[in-house]
Amino acid sequence: GDISNLEAKTKVANQVSRYVKDGDVIGVGSGSTAFLALQAIADRVKQENLNVMAIPTSQEALLNCATFGLKTTTLAADRPDWGFDGADEVDAQHRLIKGRGGALFAEKLVMASAEKTYILVDDSKFVSRLGEKFAVPIEIDPRAVHLVETRLEGYPIRKIMMRMAQSKDGPLITEAGNLILDVHFDRIEDEFEKELSSIPGVIETGLFIGYSVEILTV
Ligand code: A5P
Repeated sequence: GDISNLEAKTKVANQVSRYVKDGDVIGVGSGSTAFLALQAIADRVKQENLNVMAIPTSQEALLNCATFGLKTTTLAADRPDWGFDGADEVDAQHRLIKGRGGALFAEKLVMASAEKTYILVDDSKFVSRLGEKFAVPIEIDPRAVHLVETRLEGYPIRKIMMRMAQSKDGPLITEAGNLILDVHFDRIEDEFEKELSSIPGVIETGLFIGYSVEILTV
């Protein structure tokens, strides 16, 4: 249930705060687990008066950094020493699906820029087949919607949904001004991440395969 999930998320969040060292530049993930981790990290930074900079992966993460009094920088100015983030699904090979929160593009930029990323997950995120619960979000330029749908024919896909906005009519517009297609795969192969990224108009996918991640769980 929700309460035990919150307990699990809080425990994992506290684990990651132990890795903070003075002078670190830290990639800050998005979502509810990353929020709890950020809070735990900010507490340590304050208590021990550490010099730490954060690189946020979304407007949500940026605002949370401000709320908790963490200094922020950007990927253009600094390189993250390490990062932390949540995930929607993790399989036995530590392949990930991310992007429920729509921040997949910046999340991948930050993860790819860091030597190591701690992925914070409770039990509910582990799957035996990647894609068993979640769709793979594919962020696309709005002009590419028909092209991408055509290029997706031939993949083992059950259903494609354009992600819709929650509090206005019409599609969700990402922070980079793009659309998201939520693609339900029957089967996900390692090559899909690179293949899909090579379709013109695809900005990024929520498949995170082969990154240097360490899974933290309870
Ligand atoms: C945000 O875009 C996602 O990739 C999140 O990392 C993911 O949805 C995990 O969120 P929770 O920690 O809230 O489950």
